[in-house]
Amino acid sequence: MAAPSKRLVQRSRVRSHRSEEGPSTVGVVGMGLMGTSIAACLLGAGHCVVCIEIDPEKRRTAPKRLLHLLNEAHARGLLVESGVELVKRATISAEIFDLIDAQIVVESTVESVSVKREVIAQIESAVKARTLIGTNTSAIPVTELQLGAQHPERILGLHWAEPANVTRFMEVICGKETSPASAAQAMRFARQWGKEPSLLRKDIRGFITNRIMYAMMREAFFLVEEGYATVADVDRSLRNDLGSWITFAGPFRFMDLTGIPAYATVMKNLLPELNRSTSVPRLMKKVVSSGARGVSNAKGFYRYTPAQATRWEELFMNFSHEIREVATRYPEDVGDRAAVKPAIKKERRKVRK
Ligand SMILES: NC(=O)c1ccc[n+]([C@@H]2O[C@H](COP(=O)([O-])OP(=O)(O)OC[C@H]3O[C@@H](n4cnc5c(N)ncnc54)[C@H](O)[C@@H]3O)[C@@H](O)[C@H]2O)c1
Repeated sequence: MAAPSKRLVQRSRVRSHRSEEGPSTVGVVGMGLMGTSIAACLLGAGHCVVCIEIDPEKRRTAPKRLLHLLNEAHARGLLVESGVELVKRATISAEIFDLIDAQIVVESTVESVSVKREVIAQIESAVKARTLIGTNTSAIPVTELQLGAQHPERILGLHWAEPANVTRFMEVICGKETSPASAAQAMRFARQWGKEPSLLRKDIRGFITNRIMYAMMREAFFLVEEGYATVADVDRSLRNDLGSWITFAGPFRFMDLTGIPAYATVMKNLLPELNRSTSVPRLMKKVVSSGARGVSNAKGFYRYTPAQATRWEELFMNFSHEIREVATRYPEDVGDRAAVKPAIKKERRKVRK
């Protein structure tokens, strides 16, 4: 394991949420894969975290799973306090009213409108009127989850990426009813948690990354199903092309770096030929109906022995830490951000003339 650079340690020491009265309290509902790493992130940021989970087995294993994530982050220099110390600030419970003191609650239950609405209603019954409620949905429009809420203005989307205690990604999504003050407060929280958040000013299914990622996945399935390439060929190409620059630059910066007009020429001919199917790909249906859940049950698009599946999980965690370290050495803003807007405005003026 590479020793973390001094710079990384300094950057990742997020502001501690301790005041003279002690650390502030936040909540997480749903201690599955994501809820666990979200809770680890919040503990690492200095909060007391109330974790609500309905499944007794998940409640039993939650402290061990949290400790594992926190120990790993501590060993890599991402956290100042030890995992054992941090996990003492977690309360694992089935009782929603334990959320009463939370300043913000992150809902991270299953991806279902009805379940999330029901859980949000339960959270609202337990917390104070000003408590923010952030829903960690992959693609459900936040406006749909605000329907019927008592205080929809404090409900917003908080989209995290796995492992949530390591990645710097966060999308803060405003539903139709979200107040600007709630969005501003969520952005402040996100930065204090060590994220580089993006704000979606208007609600749209899939937000930024999932709209783009699913467009890519649809095309990946098309290439495989139509016999142009194998699953492994598609994976290899994307790792070595997109994978070599996407942490450094998004698509717009990448076009700036590599010459814009050629992209317009390619778009003219290629866009009409891209796949635009609106149904779940055949291969996806087949793999799902075979019971495959990926490395978590050692069955996916690739074959795994249980040991290989575990090894992939470990490698993914290792890589997530290393890529974070690399990314922090290449900040998004190198002092030229102000130049972007005027350039676009000028272009618009030209178009209007
Ligand atoms: N897995 C990812 O990489 C990822 C990334 C971004 C967003 N998300 C979104 O995050 C959410 C959670 O995903 P996950 O992968 O952690 O799912 P998961 O199935 O691992 O976890 C969901 C957890 O919620 C619990 N739960 C269900 N109903 C509950 C209730 N009423 N009260 C308390 N706990 C309840 C379940 O017992 C389970 O432990 C989903 O909406 C998903 O789309 C996932």
